[in-house]
Amino acid sequence: MFGRAEINEVFTPRNSEVNKTMYIEREALEKELFRSIKGSMHSFLFGESGNGKSWLYKKVFSDKKIEYVVANCARASMKKSIVDEIYSVCVQNGTSQKVSYSETKKAGVKALATAELSHQGNYELKQEDRLIESFIALNENSNSKPVVIVFDNVETIFKNNELMSELSDIIILLDDSRYSQYNVKFLIVGVPNQVLEYFSSAKNPSSVGNRIQEISRVAGLVPGQVVTFCENGFQHHLKVNIGETQLKRLARHVYDITLGVPQRIHEYCEGLSYILEDNKWTYQPTLLDLADHDWLRKGLRENYSVIEAYLNSDETANGRRNQVIYALGKIAHHQVNTETIGKQIAIEFPNNCPRSKSGIGQVLSNLAKGDKPVLKKIAHSSSYSLTDPRYLMCIRIMLHKDETSENVRKKLFKLS
Ligand SMILES: Nc1ncnc2c1ncn2[C@@H]1O[C@H](COP(=O)(O)OP(=O)(O)O)[C@@H](O)[C@H]1O
Ligand SMILES: [Mg+2]
Repeated sequence: MFGRAEINEVFTPRNSEVNKTMYIEREALEKELFRSIKGSMHSFLFGESGNGKSWLYKKVFSDKKIEYVVANCARASMKKSIVDEIYSVCVQNGTSQKVSYSETKKAGVKALATAELSHQGNYELKQEDRLIESFIALNENSNSKPVVIVFDNVETIFKNNELMSELSDIIILLDDSRYSQYNVKFLIVGVPNQVLEYFSSAKNPSSVGNRIQEISRVAGLVPGQVVTFCENGFQHHLKVNIGETQLKRLARHVYDITLGVPQRIHEYCEGLSYILEDNKWTYQPTLLDLADHDWLRKGLRENYSVIEAYLNSDETANGRRNQVIYALGKIAHHQVNTETIGKQIAIEFPNNCPRSKSGIGQVLSNLAKGDKPVLKKIAHSSSYSLTDPRYLMCIRIMLHKDETSENVRKKLFKLS
């Protein structure tokens, strides 16, 4: 309780199991998910990768003792069938006894006696029957309590018409009493926010969309949550010697460069912890440079080199270019254009703000060129969006403004 915890138990960027001691509560989302699961519709949970969708449902289901199994859409896409994936998590993950029980029931004792059937894989059930088989197995395992089947990583099949339409069919089938008697409910989880749109416009419009309820987007953590996270990890678990003011500044830095994405926050703090360990668990602000470097090297290498090449090669006058990219880094919204960047430059560089907007458009359009564009043009508009949030993370690490001179300084790292 009072000793120092192990770093790899505190910061766990890729753990699929929820680490309860480091879990940041998300009260509104948790409540919304729970109510939706209790309700009569299926649920849909979405948000960018790494924002904590999987941890969210695992945490809620464990708190509320809700039984669930996770069907992985990536595996369904390998198997070319959703039902096969459902079957494998519901039936084959159960005891072998369960399998033979259901196989016996299906095939009948007489059939089982034939050599042909005892040889597994020789008999293919019709897909609908497989679904029923799966539900029966789930229902037996849960002693008839309701069970949630989670379809995680739906983005991996979103572009696959066959699988998406299979998923729609299954959702519709679930209304049929032959299936609904088993008390099974679906939670669809994934990155694309167009899933609901898809289901609403799928071949059976009035049916699928109306059976699914969307939960608010799982976004990144807010600054206050990152402070709690850092207090918990660094002060409480790792006993780092750091004052309250410094901790708040550290948390702000972590928030700014990770954009509040939980997975990134864990990654960054894990790297920083090893640096702190080497510094006898004493914090100094200068250690952040080392941690930035470490984080870039481990997770953002490619994005870094794109931005670096860009910073060094674009022909636009240096000062102007750096102002534009710095302003881009400051704007956290999804879309930018000459106008919004111009306004941001006026805020950031009140004493060195060029009178015209010339040059801004040039820098933005250059960032949208080449084989690794940083920005992409939004159709039918003069705005751009980032092709990858990691570029924003890199820009925030690499460009700094000197508050007195308003000069933008480039901080370049050697990653090779
Ligand atoms: N509420 C949370 N509090 C603290 N860390 C979290 C939280 N949610 C997620 N994480 C961290 O982020 C990582 C990614 O979360 P995950 O749920 O797998 O994201 P997603 O499913 O949206 O891609 C987790 O391994 C964990 O380290
Ligand atoms: Mg996930």
